[in-house]
Amino acid sequence: MSDGPHLPGRFAGQVVVITGAATGIGRATAVRFGSEGARVGCLDIEDAENNSTAALAAAAGGETLALRCDVRSRHEQQSAFRAVVDRWGQIDVLVTSAGMYVGGPLPDIPLDRWENLVSVNLTGVLTANSLVAPIMIGQGQGSIINISSMAGKTSWPNSAEYSATKSGVIGLTRSAAMELGPHGITVNAVCPGNTLTAMVAKVAEEIGASLDMTGAEWLEMRANDTALKRLAQPEEIAGVIAFLASADARYLTGQAIEVDGGLVLS
Ligand SMILES: NC(=O)c1ccc[n+]([C@@H]2O[C@H](COP(=O)([O-])OP(=O)(O)OC[C@H]3O[C@@H](n4cnc5c(N)ncnc54)[C@H](O)[C@@H]3O)[C@@H](O)[C@H]2O)c1
Repeated sequence: MSDGPHLPGRFAGQVVVITGAATGIGRATAVRFGSEGARVGCLDIEDAENNSTAALAAAAGGETLALRCDVRSRHEQQSAFRAVVDRWGQIDVLVTSAGMYVGGPLPDIPLDRWENLVSVNLTGVLTANSLVAPIMIGQGQGSIINISSMAGKTSWPNSAEYSATKSGVIGLTRSAAMELGPHGITVNAVCPGNTLTAMVAKVAEEIGASLDMTGAEWLEMRANDTALKRLAQPEEIAGVIAFLASADARYLTGQAIEVDGGLVLS
């Protein structure tokens, strides 16, 4: 299924930074912004895939910069944002897509696994927001889109860790929206339902196995749980992210938008 019409020039002259740009939703978002004229900073730890994303976004029409950045490191994030500002002079849009999934029964959660997940999914988002905020305050405008999950709004067994981090992203998004609103900055979260990326393939295998199902069976069950009876393509999440960054969404802030095909209706 193809995504909606791209609007060439919608983000002309704007600078977009995306964490977790190498694959999945981050990559689709980089390509979307590139195709609409943005200059796109792609941050990730997977260099080869991240370079491919930058090449795809450039081929789509944008100017791009691929930067190695582990979101667990404040120093690496700071260096990456500085490199983007050195190159293009501003940051208009921040998308925090870097994330990972781990799950399992509550009694079996090792503390080091929890701490690593929190450092990527939650501290990584907080750090990005807090480093980019002063840049956007200086500009008097900007838009931050944090990628949460439907797991941040609702919960399932064996997902306490992931749900906790994704609920945390919604909480920090609301507070940041209140704090940064007076400076003309919008802050929203996007809560995707199951989206066909490498992450969901791993999730399907793991959770499917715990339910005596194959990964494919679990995905089919999840698709049937939605009103639309299918899972999302990453481009469909990217389209909503681009809308939130656009002038059409300038009075929209502090929201956690469910892009889940109607999952919560079931
Ligand atoms: N796919 C889904 O069904 C789904 C649903 C809801 C929310 N999400 C969220 O969407 C976001 C993107 O996930 P995706 O499905 O595109 O998965 P993905 O695995 O394709 O992409 C995640 C990206 O984050 C990068 N990353 C991981 N750890 C990092 C780190 N420490 N520093 C920098 N980059 C790092 C990975 O290298 C990868 O490129 C995640 O935050 C995820 O939790 C995904």
